[in-house]
Amino acid sequence: MQEFIHKLKQAKRVAVLTGAGISQESGIPTFRGEGGLWKQYRAEELATPEAFRRDPQLVWEWYEWRKKICSEAKPNIAHLKLADWEKKFPEFHLFTQNVDGLHRRAGSQQVTSLHGDIFSARCTKCKYFLSDRDRFWDSLPPHCPSCGSLLRPHIVWFGESYFEGDLDFAFSFLKETDFLFVVGTSGSVGVPVQLAAFAKANGATTVEINPMPSGYQSMMDIQFSEKAGEFFSRIDI
Ligand code: OAD
Ligand code: ZN
Repeated sequence: MQEFIHKLKQAKRVAVLTGAGISQESGIPTFRGEGGLWKQYRAEELATPEAFRRDPQLVWEWYEWRKKICSEAKPNIAHLKLADWEKKFPEFHLFTQNVDGLHRRAGSQQVTSLHGDIFSARCTKCKYFLSDRDRFWDSLPPHCPSCGSLLRPHIVWFGESYFEGDLDFAFSFLKETDFLFVVGTSGSVGVPVQLAAFAKANGATTVEINPMPSGYQSMMDIQFSEKAGEFFSRIDI
C-alpha cells in the first residue's frame, strides 16, 4: 500500500471510472445487485429505445422512481474524496457511468457523465431540453411544451451512441494517463470496459475497487476487494 501511495503521489495524470457501486453507500441500489430490480424488470429491459417505443409510460415510471431515490441521496466519502483528488494532481478526470449527479454535488468539476443525467429530459423531436432537479412530472409520459412530442430521459440507452465528443475525449485522456481507478462497476457494459483496456494497453497502472469480482479484473494491476467508502476512508494522498 505504501509503495502504491508513493507512486500515486507522483502521478501527473489520473483518471477514474466509476459505476453504480460508488453510490451504493449513498443508498442508491446498483443495477445488478440487491434491490436493483424494479417491479420484475432488469435494467436491460427498460433502458432501451425499444422499451421506450413500446411503453414510454413504464420507462418513465422507472426513471421517476430512480430519480426520487437519487434526489434524496447524498454524496458519500468516496464521492467527496474524489472531488478532492481533482485538486491533488496536475491533470485529473472522472468518467462516470452514473446518472445520479452525486459526483458534481460532491464538488467534482472534471466529470464526464458517459450515460447521461437522470435530472434532464429532452424532446424526441425538437431541440427542447430541460434540466431540473426538482421536477417530477404529474402525468406520465411527459410531453414537450414546445412541440407536443414525447419527452424522454436524457440517458444513453443500450444500443444508443454515446454523446458526441465524449469518447474522443476519453480515449485521448486515457492514452497518456498514469493511473486509472475503476470503482464500483461490474463490467457488463462494453464501452467502459474498452476504455479501461485502452488505458492499460497504453501503459496506465490500473487499480480496481470493488468488493466483488467484475469484468475488469483481468486488466487490473492492483485490486482492492472492498467497498468504495472503506477504501476512500483509509487512503490519504
Ligand atoms: P452494476 O449494477 O452492473 O454493478 C455495480 C458494481 O458495484 C458491482 O460490480 C458491485 O460488486 C459493485 N459494488 C456494490 N457495492 C459497492 C460498494 N459499496 N463499493 C464499490 N463497489 C460496489 O452497475 P454499473 O457497472 O454501473 O446504464 O452498470 C453499468 C451500466 O449498466 C449503468 O450505467 C446503467 C446500467 O444499465 C444505463 O442505464 C444506460
Ligand atoms: Zn419538442
